[in-house]
Amino acid sequence: MVRSRLNIGIIGIGNIGLEVFKQLISNSQLSELFSIESVLVRDIKKYTNIISKDIGFENKVDIALEKLTDSEDKFFSNNNIDVIIELIGGLEPAYSFVKRALEYKKHVVTANKDLIATHIEELIKLSKKNNVKLRFEGSVGAGIPIIEVLSDMLKQNQIQKITGIINGTSNYILSSMFENSSNFENVLKEAQELGFAESDPTNDVEGFDAKFKIDILGSIAFGSRIPLKTVYVKGISEISNKDMNYAREFGYNIKLLAITERKPEGIYSSVSPALVSLAQPMSKVGGNYNAVEILGDLVGNLWIQGEGAGKNSTSSAVLGDLMGIYYGSNDDINLSKGREKYLTREEIILKNYIRLSVEDKYGVLSEISGIFSNNEISIASVIQKDIDNSSGVVDLVIMTHDSKGINFDTAIDSVSKISSVKEKPIIIRIND
Ligand SMILES: NC(=O)c1ccc[n+]([C@@H]2O[C@H](COP(=O)([O-])OP(=O)(O)OC[C@H]3O[C@@H](n4cnc5c(N)ncnc54)[C@H](OP(=O)(O)O)[C@@H]3O)[C@@H](O)[C@H]2O)c1
Repeated sequence: MVRSRLNIGIIGIGNIGLEVFKQLISNSQLSELFSIESVLVRDIKKYTNIISKDIGFENKVDIALEKLTDSEDKFFSNNNIDVIIELIGGLEPAYSFVKRALEYKKHVVTANKDLIATHIEELIKLSKKNNVKLRFEGSVGAGIPIIEVLSDMLKQNQIQKITGIINGTSNYILSSMFENSSNFENVLKEAQELGFAESDPTNDVEGFDAKFKIDILGSIAFGSRIPLKTVYVKGISEISNKDMNYAREFGYNIKLLAITERKPEGIYSSVSPALVSLAQPMSKVGGNYNAVEILGDLVGNLWIQGEGAGKNSTSSAVLGDLMGIYYGSNDDINLSKGREKYLTREEIILKNYIRLSVEDKYGVLSEISGIFSNNEISIASVIQKDIDNSSGVVDLVIMTHDSKGINFDTAIDSVSKISSVKEKPIIIRIND
């Protein structure tokens, strides 16, 4: 059967939008299937210059420029557009644009994690009501195929757990701290100079970006929208070289892990730094790479790794979504299972690493172990390090066996109040 070409409308010609635009007009295979009908920008003059300079193949520039519009009404009421690609990012006006597109019965492709994590349920319902597709592969891990894998290939599996390194900036920082013994502030500065970190890195280093992404993956995997507020989040800004060195000594690396898992009592989702055994492949994911491990009842353990950002990787996802719409893929995101029980950190069982700065004096260790024991926490190992002769303060590094979050928090609260404990305890989950 010969299919007709799909007409595309693009919103936003930034880093990713320009690459998608270039691919659609320069790749002969793509231009047999798709034709750019219109491109919505805010300032036509700015983009006339960018396209004239960057597009790189003279004969197509005039055609490309004709497509630009700054009129939202003209763009959305264009009946020739079959698919709208949203590449502006953020919540507004992206949310209103995507809703408007779906209501006008246009298929939508986006790479916008903020938008999808915040409005996934409503937007999927709207797309189904209007009998069009909403695809967002690029919103998690850029070109790593993970959303389609969950919503199509693994549909027959009961997913038990997803573990991911899904923020390239924090992975770059932690990898550099581990490999080069650099400190957090210096690596962050270097990452900003190299363009791997934004001038305000809060979303990346404090775990908020990964929170959006793991929420999207968990919602799809478990068929029920995971409320964002139930995802526990802790970033990497407290991790120091000392922690990296102690982790290495115990046979671990430290990674920012995003995890969503089904436990017998409910679903637990979190983003936090974690000690990852050097024997696990996750510990070797370096630089700004992303990786996702999926555990399903039939498929077992599945592992996907790749570039989790950048114009090439993200445009690969966007173009793959377009292909899926063209050929009518089988992906189906169903969030109809209803509300589940969402567990808090206090309710789950974890092993932990704790670093304490304590006065080097008789009785401190036994006082701390007494508190752990009173809260039913058993200690797997303890090391004492770094005697600073001038201050008489030492590092005490404790690794616990499994313990319930609430017991652990109570114990840490009591330990922090001991007068010989000089700094806020550093706590890192151990991911076995
Ligand atoms: N960059 C990556 O590596 C990456 C990876 C995965 C996913 N993503 C996602 O891909 C999307 C695009 O990212 P990006 O890196 O390309 O961002 P970007 O370079 O900042 O580009 C955004 C573009 O959207 C335009 N825009 C903003 N508001 C607009 C409006 N109301 N109407 C029309 N255009 C508007 C901006 O134009 P002005 O010049 O007018 O501001 C800018 O050109 C985001 O959702 C991002 O999260 C990016």
